[in-house]
Amino acid sequence: MYKALSIKQDDIELRLSQIRENFKFFGAPVGMIVTIDKSFAENGWGHVGMFIQNICLSAVERGMGTCLQESWSIYPETVKDILNIPDNEVVWCGIALGYPNKEHPINNYRTSRESIEKFVTFIE
Ligand SMILES: Cc1cc2nc3c(=O)[nH]c(=O)nc-3n(C[C@H](O)[C@H](O)[C@H](O)COP(=O)(O)O)c2cc1C
Repeated sequence: MYKALSIKQDDIELRLSQIRENFKFFGAPVGMIVTIDKSFAENGWGHVGMFIQNICLSAVERGMGTCLQESWSIYPETVKDILNIPDNEVVWCGIALGYPNKEHPINNYRTSRESIEKFVTFIE
């Protein structure tokens, strides 16, 4: 990603400034914070994950894009304070939502995908 942005590995200032973009939702017009009740067990977290995935897919269907951001969970107390989130909630992640700027290099960077054989065991 830093390569796509022409940010060199040893350029700490630029790397930090890219990290700080997280806390502006990368300029997206909509920012969401996902919280989960502390009492939820692993299956509950799984359900919320599926809910988040549906938001991402619905966005794409409408020509929009999202960026999931676990970085918001680094500062849970600040996020809770500002948004009046009760203490029984865990701040899990943020979701930036908007129309992608197709000219921006970060939106032309693609991560590779594992082949299906690497994560599925077929039993015949
Ligand atoms: C659960 C989750 C949390 C993420 N948190 C961040 C984050 O805090 N900041 C960030 O820049 N990218 C984060 N990413 C990566 C981007 O959301 C996105 O996945 C990445 O740019 C690669 O795109 P891809 O999901 O199509 O491979 C996160 C991804 C996931 C799945």
